[in-house]
Amino acid sequence: MKSINFFIETIGCQMNVNDSEKMAEILSGKGCIQVKDVHQADIVIVNTCSVRFSAEHKAYSLLGRLKEQKENNPNLVIGVTGCMAEYAAKEIKARCKFVDFVLGAKKTDLFEETINRFLHTQSARLSVRPADDVFKYVTIMRGCSNFCSYCIVPHVRGPEISIDYNKILNEINTAVDNGIKEIILLGQNVNSYNYEGVNFTQLLQKISKTDKLNRIRFMTNHPKDFSDELIEEISNNKKICRHIHLPLQSGSNKILKAMNRKYTYEQYETLYNKIKNKIPDINITSDIIIGFPGETDDDFQATFDASRKLQFGGLFIFKYSPRPKTYAAKLKDRVPLEIIKKRHTALLEDSNIISKNINEKYLNKTVEVLVENIDNNVAQARNSQNIKIFFDCDENLKGRVVNVKINKVLPNSMSGILQQ
Ligand code: 5AD
Ligand code: SF4
Repeated sequence: MKSINFFIETIGCQMNVNDSEKMAEILSGKGCIQVKDVHQADIVIVNTCSVRFSAEHKAYSLLGRLKEQKENNPNLVIGVTGCMAEYAAKEIKARCKFVDFVLGAKKTDLFEETINRFLHTQSARLSVRPADDVFKYVTIMRGCSNFCSYCIVPHVRGPEISIDYNKILNEINTAVDNGIKEIILLGQNVNSYNYEGVNFTQLLQKISKTDKLNRIRFMTNHPKDFSDELIEEISNNKKICRHIHLPLQSGSNKILKAMNRKYTYEQYETLYNKIKNKIPDINITSDIIIGFPGETDDDFQATFDASRKLQFGGLFIFKYSPRPKTYAAKLKDRVPLEIIKKRHTALLEDSNIISKNINEKYLNKTVEVLVENIDNNVAQARNSQNIKIFFDCDENLKGRVVNVKINKVLPNSMSGILQQ
């Protein structure tokens, strides 16, 4: 009997990766087999993102290719999920008539019910998904209530909701029992977690009591909600990794106000220095948006200067993309694309040099890493600071903590030699 194969394409953030994992678990639980080649699939799920226009473009390109595949195989089931499916369901259905179902990000709970309509379980071969992952995403919050003026997330994912910590702890315990070594807690703003009076710091304290769990990471943070208590907890708790993603978005107070970020550059800098002073081995990374409406040369210069002054370990730089439903999309004073591109390149080049210089302090030093994958005798691992580290190895070290002596540094990764 032929098995039912499924393929999931995930576009966008870790929240989507986590939702895809959950869909994969449901399908695997029904005996379906996950495949890496879309052409071998009987079910294709496109899990979409709408945070920038480019992500939507990617989804429509893939759907265009799937249309051809469906013409050759009319039994192919195509589902579209995620953020774009939430707010543009009508458009997707109109533009892609060959799509079988569209299920928005707020309705992920209905996935099982929806897919059952297309599954003939009697023809599916039972299989157990090998649980050999090293880390696992755990969603602790859904939605966002911050309404940064450029961001579509609150409009498509709805208001912020914290998940019951008992459920979170159960999910983590099961994962650790199945061999997971690292947990990555997810939420649009984990710093405002609050379930029946239990805040984020207290949640971390509860989670770190889990035996056999080596590492805890979390993302993403909002500077306005990052508490002193949390800084203290990270500095005292060795299970919490030395990496904080702390989006700045802009170095100009005028732009930060227009973005509705609710902090000034000076407040950000004070927080940044406090974290660095309390946790000296911390790696702080950030997000920047270039070309928000009204961004002048001076505003951009403020962002450029901030990047030089703060010396982030890594910077993700996005070109502003006007999104439907957002306040900023109505603003008139758009920055021409040519100027956005120039500013983007200038900041990217400079920040890459900064990150590489920062990583250079690791040269000839031995670092402790957790091995995530082995491919063709090359191990891919990560240190506590979340820097990717590659090294040659001929044994299966997946899931193990080992020491590597660094001999090469790039802006976003390093390589070295395994120390026995
Ligand atoms: N245009 C460009 N970048 C955006 N981001 C969010 N919305 C937009 C937008 N409309 C960026 C922010 C955020 C990251 C996840 O994506 O920098 O921190
Ligand atoms: Fe979007 Fe701001 Fe919420 Fe982040 S905090 S998801 S940028 S609205």
